[in-house]
Amino acid sequence: MKVLESVAAMRVARQAMAGSMGFVPTMGYLHEGHMALARRARAENEHVVASIFVNPTQFGPHEDFERYPRNQERDLAMLQKEGVDAVFLPPVVEMYPSGSCTYVTVEGLSQKLEGASRPGHFRGVATVVAKLFNIVQPARAYFGQKDAQQVVIIKKMAADLDMNLEIVVCPTVREPDGLAMSSRNVYLNPAERRAALVLWQALCLAREMWQKGERRAEVIPKAMRELIQKEPLARLDYVSLAHSQTLEELESIPKEGEGSVLASLAVYIGKTRLIDNIVLE
Ligand code: PAF
Repeated sequence: MKVLESVAAMRVARQAMAGSMGFVPTMGYLHEGHMALARRARAENEHVVASIFVNPTQFGPHEDFERYPRNQERDLAMLQKEGVDAVFLPPVVEMYPSGSCTYVTVEGLSQKLEGASRPGHFRGVATVVAKLFNIVQPARAYFGQKDAQQVVIIKKMAADLDMNLEIVVCPTVREPDGLAMSSRNVYLNPAERRAALVLWQALCLAREMWQKGERRAEVIPKAMRELIQKEPLARLDYVSLAHSQTLEELESIPKEGEGSVLASLAVYIGKTRLIDNIVLE
């Protein structure tokens, strides 16, 4: 497995890989969710490239960029085990050389949900993903449904900017008790880890109400909020029931054929902010 730290070296390696290329962009501190993306990319392409880059432009000034977990050696061993051909591992200055001042903004979609709580976050995501696509030139790029809004925004960016690749979305990988896998789960102490289950419980409640036929848009989020408020270590950021493509908050539930519903939430467990979602079909 090649490890490439410069854009120039990545481009040279890319040129030597004729045939379909699957790309798995990550911020490292890999877990089974990332491995599922790598495995799918391996199964569907002749070559697989992963990137590990903790992207400063998608973190707000008071967020966890500095302390975001990192473990390069372990990450590389995991990717090698999945048969990844090359890993792009650039330093910050390689991705954002001094004077770099061009950003990609997906208007509208980037301001909702996560974007409302984390201004500038999706500008950073779209910018770095566009740069990575330009450098790696994949035929397919793999993302997890756990970051549902990120996926909607990247698909829109790829379509609007005529990027010649397919965005493949893979299901959220969960711990046996339902907690969505996330690199940030490492921040949780044992009591917080137990409390974090409230996100999945709230989503299961939404799904159960939905399956029982509840279609009043405000009733489900209200029940989710009430459940979360009962957990002493949890502080709710938002709960949302939105159209899964437009991300517009629902005032009424879409009828058959009008699209599916994204139930999503962000909750602080202690100081750790976690997100999760499910699609109600
Ligand atoms: O989902 C992530 O890990 C990041 O947002 C991504 C897509 C690698 C961009 O930095």
